[in-house]
Amino acid sequence: MNELQNRIAFITGAASGMGRASAILMAAEGATVVVADLNLEGAEKVVAEIEEAGGTASAVKLDVTKPQDIQSAFERVDEQFGRLDVVYANAGTPGATGHEVTEEEYDFSVGVNLTGAYFVAQSGIPLLKKSENTGSIIFTASTAGLVGSGLSPLYSLTKGGVVMYAKALALSLAPKVRVNVICPGPIDTPMLPKFWSRETTEGASERLDAWVEQDIPLGRRGRPEEIAQAALFLASDRASFITGVALPVDGGFVAK
Ligand code: NAI
Repeated sequence: MNELQNRIAFITGAASGMGRASAILMAAEGATVVVADLNLEGAEKVVAEIEEAGGTASAVKLDVTKPQDIQSAFERVDEQFGRLDVVYANAGTPGATGHEVTEEEYDFSVGVNLTGAYFVAQSGIPLLKKSENTGSIIFTASTAGLVGSGLSPLYSLTKGGVVMYAKALALSLAPKVRVNVICPGPIDTPMLPKFWSRETTEGASERLDAWVEQDIPLGRRGRPEEIAQAALFLASDRASFITGVALPVDGGFVAK
């Protein structure tokens, strides 16, 4: 219950899916959690859930593609807490699939998944350095950042960039801040069906099920709570000698 006692955690994309599950788990482990999301109403619901369970959290509306939003969110954290211990840059978008995308689609995916993650992490560093604890930055990339995704080369581009940024940042911030990246396989969140139905919704669910059956050794989709367990571990002192790691949480997909 006390893995993150007295720690302050800032999580983007925390109104839904893996970010939501991580916010709830980290709060249950004693962290004060800032639930940051484009969807303020959803973020407030997560805060209410955390508070009902006896935890502490606050919601902030934040579009990771807007540097001003990021800046003011961290300024608020600074005023309220004066430090951070965990920054989890998790917000992301499936974006466009296929090998032909428009400039708008390109800019959108790169803006959310890569530039957004970059500036959330970068803007959190001064606050992590203000803590007496070793800081932890965590990213959510994807197995598509470790092996190519034929379904969406653009998604692979953004997530591969996040993986390499996390490794480089780990070197740059050692020993004060640890930096790691989680690479989920297919996880049951609202995003998963969107990824598989970009070109056509017809048969998307069947295509997804067939892929999972054929390519995921553990034979099923993951649950957001299973990503949250990895995030909790990387955020906590249990991972005190782990930095620069890209951790697949993927039912064995990239082991093949
Ligand atoms: P989700 O759709 O359940 O949650 C994503 C959250 O991010 C939403 O609450 C949404 O409002 C927020 N968000 C989107 N754009 C934003 C922006 N510009 N600024 C702030 N918040 C924004 O999705 P899920 O699955 O939990 O995704 C979390 C991360 O996991 C993403 O980075 C995604 O790319 C990655 N991922 C997802 C996989 C899956 O199978 N679901 C597999 C591999 C990676």
